[in-house]
Amino acid sequence: MAAGVSITAEEVCKCAITSWYKDFRDVTITSKFIPLTDAFTKYLLGDGGDVGLVLPKECSLANVIGDSDSTDSSVSWDDDDDDGIEPPSFPNTVEAIMMAITELGGAVFPKLNWSSPRDATWVAIGNTLRCTCPSDVILLLKSSDFVMHDLSRVGEYCGLDQTLVPPGGFSLCLRRWVPINPSGEFRCFVKDSQLIGVSQRDTSGCYPHLLSIKDQLMTEVVHFFSSNLLKKFLVKSFVFDVYRRGQADYQLIDINPFGDMTDPLLFSWSELCKLSLDQELPIVRLVEHAFHTIQPSDLIGCRLPKECSQLVNGDDDYVEKFVELCKSARDDIIAQHEKIDNTTPNNTTADTQ
Ligand SMILES: Nc1ncnc2c1ncn2[C@@H]1O[C@H](COP(=O)(O)OP(=O)(O)O)[C@@H](O)[C@H]1O
Ligand SMILES: [Mg+2]
Repeated sequence: MAAGVSITAEEVCKCAITSWYKDFRDVTITSKFIPLTDAFTKYLLGDGGDVGLVLPKECSLANVIGDSDSTDSSVSWDDDDDDGIEPPSFPNTVEAIMMAITELGGAVFPKLNWSSPRDATWVAIGNTLRCTCPSDVILLLKSSDFVMHDLSRVGEYCGLDQTLVPPGGFSLCLRRWVPINPSGEFRCFVKDSQLIGVSQRDTSGCYPHLLSIKDQLMTEVVHFFSSNLLKKFLVKSFVFDVYRRGQADYQLIDINPFGDMTDPLLFSWSELCKLSLDQELPIVRLVEHAFHTIQPSDLIGCRLPKECSQLVNGDDDYVEKFVELCKSARDDIIAQHEKIDNTTPNNTTADTQ
């Protein structure tokens, strides 16, 4: 829990897109919701025998291409079932995803009640969250720790030791895909109904054009907040994300809990909690200098082998296992080299002239 912030389960639930969307549909991106069945939730969680990254049988090419009338039992698997893993079947969910994609113009951005699978972007074709078919959506959901977190660990932020199920249950939210320029995204912090801070959302770079309009940004965001959220979103402290499409033209992207679960970006939680309400607020923070070096992505930890990030995060149990893993990898490599050396005649090295 962030210093000085206590957050209730009710507040966290109000920040789920399934809760706030209906009140803000005029100022946010058009979205559709598909309630997750227990079976599909279990499949995402890998409960009851994880089948790994096996997609539902309805996602197979044969079914996507004009075979929608086939019954589950008539599906042919060609070479895909060589490994003996029976793909799960979710005809209704897959069909609902397909219909939503079509209704939203052919491309969507997927998320669950709170989080998108941003950490899994690297598994997607084209490294993007832009999905044009059910397989794109399900592959991202199934590969994402952020999605797993939504399904199992959000309760931890409000002191619950059990899963926090949002009102109406877990749902898949599909949003019309809109091209977003990261320089136009801002995260806005509201404490006790006052807008106290605004941070550039993409902190990996400096956008010089923003520096010259800092005051204007502040006025615009304050105006967006007071006319659209202040009296409508009935939680005292929260964080909202906006996209500036043009001058004074803003779109609400997301609402997040005011606390650890949300990245404070160019602020820190202890700083936000201590900010005196007497000074001129909000404070607008932008990356002021360009770094002419390679900057790490905030999602880099999601690409490392799990063992490495657990090691870096100081999980002692993993140190020993990690060392063992490295030793065994080294032994394998040495063994392979020995095998190659033993089978290669001494006088034939390819590069020797
Ligand atoms: N409908 C959309 N189309 C394209 N990109 C989007 C869309 N919605 C969000 N994004 C991008 O994805 C990022 C994360 O979206 P968000 O809904 O805030 O998910 P999360 O809560 O997991 O961070 C946004 O900052 C934005 O850049
Ligand atoms: Mg969010």
